[in-house]
Amino acid sequence: MKDMKIKKIPYGLANDERVVKPNPEDIYIKCDILEGLPKPNRDNWLYEIELLSQVLPKNVRVLQVGSMDGTRILKLLKARPDLVLTGIEIEAPLVKLSKNKLEQAGLKADFIQGDITNPPNMPKFDYIICLNNTLGCIPDEDKAINGMKKLGNNIIISVYAERFNNALAKEYFKAIGLEIKNIENNIIVMKDFTKVKRYTREEVKSWNCKIIETPIGYFCINLTSTFSWT
Ligand SMILES: C[S@@+](CC[C@H](N)C(=O)[O-])C[C@H]1O[C@@H](n2cnc3c(N)ncnc32)[C@H](O)[C@@H]1O
Repeated sequence: MKDMKIKKIPYGLANDERVVKPNPEDIYIKCDILEGLPKPNRDNWLYEIELLSQVLPKNVRVLQVGSMDGTRILKLLKARPDLVLTGIEIEAPLVKLSKNKLEQAGLKADFIQGDITNPPNMPKFDYIICLNNTLGCIPDEDKAINGMKKLGNNIIISVYAERFNNALAKEYFKAIGLEIKNIENNIIVMKDFTKVKRYTREEVKSWNCKIIETPIGYFCINLTSTFSWT
């Protein structure tokens, strides 16, 4: 017994049914750590901030869907201190991190734990923003859009599209700790994680909104109440 070497067994043995799935918080948090991302994703993230800073009117109340650990809201508040920002985020640990992050920076924003596909009752916001292909991470798009419409009349959605090609997708998801299993009909299926959708210009056009091209996708402004999601 004394000389017996104990072999270190990695999690998720090939012949074992158990699979150690990545923790959503650990994965999502990497989406906003720009230094670790491929340049087109980094540029896209910064472009979204730049556009929002230009298009949002003064002093409006804005809700960010999928506010993660508050990095984006912090950055936006630094660029536009007049905005009144709230984040809704499904993962409770990320909500806690957001609150701490803003407090440490001495800035003010609200963070709510909730699911945009079944949002809590809240007073309406002037703008709803859903950035960085967050919509593509939510399995029930229709419900997510309807949830946004319940919470505000002006909706801004930024998605990844054709320029987020397979090679870039592979590089990006690797950078945030995921491995692609396959890509079919613009649905990127991850190993042990949720699927992510990428969009086409045609699809985005059907949303009845003003489209601005971003480095790797489209920024859609004002999905109005006449917008129908089919
Ligand atoms: C791609 S990340 C957002 C990236 C980043 N916050 C940004 O602004 O670029 C997607 C975020 O949406 C959150 N999320 C996913 N489904 C959600 C839902 N149904 N309701 C609210 N948040 C959701 C995830 O937990 C994750 O933090």
